[in-house]
Amino acid sequence: SPYHYHLFQNFWCPSIHVQAVDSFQKNFQAKENDVIVASFPKSGTMWLKALTFAILNHQRFSSLENHPLLTANPHELVPFLEYIFGGDIHDQIHLQTNKPEPRVFGTHTPFPSLPKSLKESNCKIIYICRNPFDNFVSAWNYFNKIKPLSLPALPLDEAFEMYCDGIIDYGPWWSHMLGYWKESIAKPNKVLFLKYDDLKKDTNFHVKRIAEFFGCPFTQEEESNGTIESIVKLCSFEKMKDLEVNKSGKVGREGIEKKNFFRKAETGDWINYFSPPMIRKLSKIVEEKLDGSGLSFNNCS
Ligand code: A3P
Repeated sequence: SPYHYHLFQNFWCPSIHVQAVDSFQKNFQAKENDVIVASFPKSGTMWLKALTFAILNHQRFSSLENHPLLTANPHELVPFLEYIFGGDIHDQIHLQTNKPEPRVFGTHTPFPSLPKSLKESNCKIIYICRNPFDNFVSAWNYFNKIKPLSLPALPLDEAFEMYCDGIIDYGPWWSHMLGYWKESIAKPNKVLFLKYDDLKKDTNFHVKRIAEFFGCPFTQEEESNGTIESIVKLCSFEKMKDLEVNKSGKVGREGIEKKNFFRKAETGDWINYFSPPMIRKLSKIVEEKLDGSGLSFNNCS
């Protein structure tokens, strides 16, 4: 929820996830061929889970009939480690051992807090974040949709002040981004750093790049026979949001209604929410926090 956090290992951990993150950190045993989809919340997590799943399994499920993405939500196919380790021990064992390899998991945990075995193994981490303007707007809309009815709505200005202070699930957002950013520079074969807006602008290009990063590049034939295009289409916002499996039902321990994972999926929607002072304030924070890191967002302000 947007209201209850613990400052845990220098990040704002939703109180209900503290135990799970702690347990994940202590107990997760990475396998060399694991794939981890890491993200800052509300940055295209579900989309990247879908693309990752589709890319890794494109030979197993080459025909579109019976494709698991048509009958399951990406959060079900690629579960969050925070959910797995928050569940009972049998769920933990089941979800970790009964998965076909390569296992694919999701996480929002900041890089420094990942388990040692995950950092040290050869497993791959693919990370996505989003320009802070659209990230904030997406998060604010989402929180107000999923909050318990008993809690009052979070006003935009209050949420904005919190966001500027870095107080949001798994925030501060700048530390989260920079943690993965630095690792992607130090170890480009281990961490692939993606931005939502880039992925949206040229999805085909990035799908190819992701497959290469995973060590399973598309063949010449696949490149010319429409395989990439069909993956992109299968995972597109328009396609996914209209699937029956994503229109009703809930996922995860918190029982979040799947329809809440889809909103507008547009770059630049923030313009409809930001006043000039808000634009100035967030621009300044982005500039200050990312200064000298080499990380920048060119789709905002
Ligand atoms: P908006 O709120 O701007 O619409 P996350 O998956 O990390 O929770 O991110 C949520 C954002 O991703 C939402 O952005 C949502 O609409 C968008 N999204 C969901 N499915 C998508 C898809 N298949 N392609 C692109 N964006 C998608």
